[in-house]
Amino acid sequence: MMKKRVLTLLLLAVVATSAGCAYRRYLGMHGPSTKNYPDIHFDSIKEDSECLDCHSPKNTSGEAPTTSHPTFKGCLKCHNDPVT
Ligand code: HEC
Ligand code: HEC
Repeated sequence: MMKKRVLTLLLLAVVATSAGCAYRRYLGMHGPSTKNYPDIHFDSIKEDSECLDCHSPKNTSGEAPTTSHPTFKGCLKCHNDPVT
């Protein structure tokens, strides 16, 4: 009886923490889509290095939001969802 309740609490705790936002991007969740701004993100932009020209944390122009994960490969795998 008591044991069961402890187990339930433990399970709840695991679920709660793994849904926390720190995990979002590492579980392959999709990021905001480049298609939100089609006038900036032309279809011809495909290479990570091109994305980083504007989004690298080293870019100090301040116009584009900087990425917290500049070392990731394949930006468009996560940032190319169709906008609904
Ligand atoms: C594994 C999926 C994934 C990959 C690969 C990825 N991202 Fe992201 N990205 C996310 C998620 C999820 C978010 C939203 C959460 C956050 O801000 O950390 C995000 C947020 C961002 C933001 C912040 C947007 C804002 O409004 O502040 C930028 C800029 C960005 N990514 C650029 C890039 C670039 C450039 C690359 C390639 C070098 C890249 N991302 C690769 C998942 C990814
Ligand atoms: C010419 C510079 C430039 C290039 C190249 C570029 N971006 Fe952006 N990006 C911007 C700017 C500027 C914004 C901010 C738009 C705004 O907030 O009005 C932005 C916004 C974003 C956002 C945030 C979208 C949102 O809804 O918050 C993501 C994610 C992103 N870019 C990813 C990428 C990826 C991935 C690539 C490469 C395929 C890329 N960008 C190439 C300039 C650029």
